[in-house]
Amino acid sequence: IPQAPEAALLLSWYDRHHRDLPWRTSPAMAAGGERPDPYRVWLSEVMLQQTTVQAVKPYFAKFLAQWPTVGDLAAAPQEDVMVAWAGLGYYARARNLKKCAEAVANDHGGKFPDTEEGLRALPGIGDYTAAAVAAIAFNRPAAVMDGNVERVISRLHAIDTPLPAAKPLMKSKVAALTPVDRPGDFAQAMMDLGATICTPKRPACALCPLRERCLALAGHDPERFPVKAAK
Ligand code: ADE
Repeated sequence: IPQAPEAALLLSWYDRHHRDLPWRTSPAMAAGGERPDPYRVWLSEVMLQQTTVQAVKPYFAKFLAQWPTVGDLAAAPQEDVMVAWAGLGYYARARNLKKCAEAVANDHGGKFPDTEEGLRALPGIGDYTAAAVAAIAFNRPAAVMDGNVERVISRLHAIDTPLPAAKPLMKSKVAALTPVDRPGDFAQAMMDLGATICTPKRPACALCPLRERCLALAGHDPERFPVKAAK
């Protein structure tokens, strides 16, 4: 399956340097065609939206131990979910979490929809979560956009248009790079690259798998991107 050169470079870096995170499948599992549990992917992505990876880890473990399936979470008292969420912040996420679990359990027979559109129709699921779950859990070629991905793509293409106006262009660039055979790994590779190498300040360009193709690095000022609208 043909891949854009940037996608091939990024995936080969990800195979060697990906972060081992509890909601990810091991490369051995993935090679055997095993997909991660959509419930685990959804839960982790909701938690990760406004919270760091390190802070999420213990909460993710606690939720899975207490509610191993989406049906268990749907049946839980709202109060228990709020107590388990305490400390993660942005408590609307916990209320939406429960609403979404109820919709999956009651309207979808306990199975998450396996398309971006189907996921987007669930309560509390926005563009980001729908794309992330579609790509990571169901291998759909969805363009997953978050702050890390915006930074990586804006540097790779030296996008001069400021945020937020540049968002549609950034999304089309990510969609064009997303490989149909490994969209979930590609999305997570972009996030890992943004979190560990293509950082906001002092990016480690010497270690970057995309350094030979990065227009921001060629222009000697990667930190200039993403450009923000003047206040
Ligand atoms: N941030 C949000 N989702 C993530 C994921 N799946 N892996 C790493 N960082 C993330």
